[in-house]
Amino acid sequence: MRDRLLAAEKVKAIDWRDGALYLLDQRRLPFEQTWVACTSAAAVAEAIRSMVVRGAPAIGISAAYGLVLAARARLVEGGDWQAAWEEDLALLADSRPTAANLFWALNRMRDRLDRLKKHADPLAVLEAEAVAIHESDREANLTMAQLGVDLIRKHQGNAQAILTHCNTGALATGGFGTALGVIRGAFLEGMVECVYVNETRPWLQGSRLTAWELANEGIPVTVNADSAGAHILKTKGVTWVIVGADCIAANGDVASKIGTYQLAVCAMHHGVRFMVVAPSSSIDMMLASGDEIPLEERDERELLEVDGKRLAADVGAFNPVFDVTPADLIDVIVTEKGIVERPDTAKLAQLMCRKRLH
Ligand code: MRU
Repeated sequence: MRDRLLAAEKVKAIDWRDGALYLLDQRRLPFEQTWVACTSAAAVAEAIRSMVVRGAPAIGISAAYGLVLAARARLVEGGDWQAAWEEDLALLADSRPTAANLFWALNRMRDRLDRLKKHADPLAVLEAEAVAIHESDREANLTMAQLGVDLIRKHQGNAQAILTHCNTGALATGGFGTALGVIRGAFLEGMVECVYVNETRPWLQGSRLTAWELANEGIPVTVNADSAGAHILKTKGVTWVIVGADCIAANGDVASKIGTYQLAVCAMHHGVRFMVVAPSSSIDMMLASGDEIPLEERDERELLEVDGKRLAADVGAFNPVFDVTPADLIDVIVTEKGIVERPDTAKLAQLMCRKRLH
């Protein structure tokens, strides 16, 4: 399946070349494919903040490249370049609060710099580390796709309907995707009849991005309003809800796109299995439970306006963009280190001690 997944690879959203970071502008998809070139850490931080690039793993990868750009600029300035580089790191860390992969990638880059050998070239070492972060996310996607497909086959091998939320595909990662990687793999194995995609208000990651990715690959996809989720689970023979994660706490609580929690409640009510697919870089063992995960709230205009045109009455809005699904609503978490069924603190601690499977 690995080779077939690799052969099906069509979308690339992050391109590091000629010393610059090129990001496919996700604000303009699916209508326009334009690229934003970033040549400084500040530009990368702004691209993350304004959602040119989004999705927890993609944010982490982009930030790692941002630190390469930062090192290049600070080394030219000379002096205590590392102190100035830490300021760039802080700027990147401040770009979005929920994606654990962002802080994981920044820490990994800092650790690499701390372990630098005496005469090593810091720029070359940091660039190699960022490329390794990017490449290992792509590999993790492949491993998770295989594990998720095995789970689907174990429970029911024939073609079935799956429901997903937000965008967890090539646009959100360094490879094929987390949840969407599993769905892609299941389709290649003949196990997907239809993918229901929640439109994912207010930013429309589902209808703009996921539907675009799946349709490009000829995977049968249909978009629905988020509020249709319970009805679909009740009436359409859905066997799995499959979603990604932005941050997983030590006890298995999962922060993901707003609306995921209510989907998990509905899935439990209707006896539909609930799978979370995320690389171990999304797991933060320092956070005891979901209560400790910082949940981003964005500008109310994202909710009240469409394309700059106001659609709502003249009132304020509450726009939290992530929520926390409690671990006891989750059947399984799939990572590149293995799977955790009915997650809890002991099982996640055990998982994090393992090496990745590939
Ligand atoms: O606000 P976004 O678009 O960055 O949110 C993305 C999600 O919530 C995804 O589901 C999550 O990052 C997993 S992506 C592999």
